[in-house]
Amino acid sequence: MSSATNPQDTWKQLAGAAAAELVEEGMVVGLGTGSTASHFVQALAQRIQQGLHITGAVASSQATYTLAADLGIPLTDLDTHPELDIYIDGADEIDPQLCLIKGAGGALLREKILASSARRFVVVADPTKRVEQLGHHYPLPVEVIPLALTPISRKIANLGAQVKLRHAGAAPFITDNHNFILDCTFPQGISDPGALNARLHAIVGLVETGLFIDMAQQVIVGGPDGVQVFQ
Ligand code: 5RP
Repeated sequence: MSSATNPQDTWKQLAGAAAAELVEEGMVVGLGTGSTASHFVQALAQRIQQGLHITGAVASSQATYTLAADLGIPLTDLDTHPELDIYIDGADEIDPQLCLIKGAGGALLREKILASSARRFVVVADPTKRVEQLGHHYPLPVEVIPLALTPISRKIANLGAQVKLRHAGAAPFITDNHNFILDCTFPQGISDPGALNARLHAIVGLVETGLFIDMAQQVIVGGPDGVQVFQ
């Protein structure tokens, strides 16, 4: 195991390594984005170096593509392989029904496309990500078309959220798809993720939300006592 700098990172590494064991010979694998997913990508690369053969991997972001390419993982795309055997990614919050908030890394659109293209979606996390109700620890990220920033922000505020345009330094953060991210805080939490997701999707120009509902089949949580699996 490589140099982990704090307990949380050690737990993420445990989850990533356990998830890499789920990858089987010949699979098409979706690669998530973020620090926990990066541990998975590194563990997968190690298995490939040891002789595992996969058909290819599809990355959910430019950052993950670069990491995977540097590690020698064979890369492919959804045009060549429209269906993934397995998709493994992190999450910002995970509720007891395995509904998720994702997108702190800004890759939620591609992540949701890969999750929806996978036969099996497995989440890797540390215990800090498990919550009773979504929306209390992380704002909900939504990806929007830059042209519609102001009207969309107002419409989301009308749903009761505090809305902040995400920045990278002084400039707005730009996604891999050339869009903006709005981080939306719901002060009372999100009591009905499905209903909120539907209301957000009714806003024209809003491309995707970070609510992943009924998508994950399994969650692997690394922690002080090893690995726990929820499904
Ligand atoms: C990126 C994501 C990440 O999976 C999520 O933010 C978790 O990140 P980390 O594993 O670094 O805690 O959704 O868009």
